[in-house]
Amino acid sequence: MESSNLDDGHGEEAVAWNQLSYLAGFGNHFSSEAKPGALPLGQNSPLSCPYGLYAEQISGTSFTSPRKLNQRSWFYRIKPSVTHEPFYPRLPRQNRLVSEFNHTTSLATPTQMRWKPVNDPEIPTDFIDGLYTVCGAGSSFLRHGYAIHMYAANESMVDSAFCNADGDFLIVPQKGRLWITTECGRIKVSPGEIVVLPQGFRFSVQLPDGPSRGYVSEVFGSHFQLPDLGPIGANGLASERDFMVPVAWFESKIRPGYTIIQKFGGELFTAKQNFSPFNVVAWHGNYVPYKYDLSKFCPFNTVLIDHGDPSVNTVLTAPSDKPGVAILDFVIFPPRWLVAEHTFRPPYYHRNCMSEFMGLIYGDYEAKAEGFLPGGASLHSCMTPHGPDTKTYEATVGRGGDAGPVRVSETMAFMFESSLIPRVCPWAMESPELDRDYYQCWIGLRSHFSPDDTPPTHP
Ligand code: FE2
Repeated sequence: MESSNLDDGHGEEAVAWNQLSYLAGFGNHFSSEAKPGALPLGQNSPLSCPYGLYAEQISGTSFTSPRKLNQRSWFYRIKPSVTHEPFYPRLPRQNRLVSEFNHTTSLATPTQMRWKPVNDPEIPTDFIDGLYTVCGAGSSFLRHGYAIHMYAANESMVDSAFCNADGDFLIVPQKGRLWITTECGRIKVSPGEIVVLPQGFRFSVQLPDGPSRGYVSEVFGSHFQLPDLGPIGANGLASERDFMVPVAWFESKIRPGYTIIQKFGGELFTAKQNFSPFNVVAWHGNYVPYKYDLSKFCPFNTVLIDHGDPSVNTVLTAPSDKPGVAILDFVIFPPRWLVAEHTFRPPYYHRNCMSEFMGLIYGDYEAKAEGFLPGGASLHSCMTPHGPDTKTYEATVGRGGDAGPVRVSETMAFMFESSLIPRVCPWAMESPELDRDYYQCWIGLRSHFSPDDTPPTHP
């Protein structure tokens, strides 16, 4: 956890996007400098920093959080972040972002919900304009809760950076790469990878592939961490060394009219400044953006009978104050072998005190024969029944006997699972992509009850 990792970062345009390097690790205390000697030695805040830089700290936890939870980083930058004009409400663009979920902003429903993928935008839309909240719970002001967003965009952000004061973003691109410039450096993210942008970091998103879409979970008052492994042991699931952190990168040129877009309480504000916020020449700390390639996940699964609980596939968890109870878990269903004997192999029928939002990055999902598409989504809230559709059930049982080992190859589904019950935003309830016939996928499940059967004999 406390390893130090000093890397020579990169300045200006010296390194192209296809040549980025990263630091590796999760929860490390990292160091990176784009010019040699830019990091002060022996102290964080010297009277004069090397190269005439300003020292600035970003705190991701309270000063007094326990050491094992404490997160902060120090930036050494050309001008401090405070050098900007006042914030003003960002008008007149439509804002479909919510960070306080109550009856004035969102709706309660126990109904199973499913959405088809959205089409590409018909007008120029950058990542911020293309971002909209689907559902969530709690309040960013009270530092407790989460929001689930989706985005559909087709243009890079220009002369602007986004800063989310409300929570951490975990972005799951489904279509199109994201080239993200952050204050710690630059990160390239492809579908099949995820990126976490912690609360307060300024970042700008380029879309090198044009039309792009994906999913975002945002947590208020908690940060993502690796799950405990319990009886699995010391290894497995997501490995610390597969998390990639950017190296220092900066631009120093004057940028007149540069805009900082700040999300604060779900509302957007803008402030002008005449320089790029990506002017950090060196940094150190453990509060950093990072990415992770889901193909590196080491799944564990049943090797004899029954379908294990999906928690075994947790990549990251944002814990609540209750042990084992998450504000938000990020769980994946990656390619894997199915080998269980005399077992109904798809997910079991289920009612859950937790609420489950699912998305599909590529391929098919094993519990749905049709209707759950890459780029689409589903929501099964607290105690709302869900499970395999009729076709999946009948096909599975119809095969009979043991199917032998089967490799599920072409699939990458995921779940955002929360202990907090989501309310759904009105535009998601009224969306043309909402599958109003979703319930039909289960209606055909018929009774197989045969009371006159001979009682089974068990060995
Ligand atoms: Fe479930």
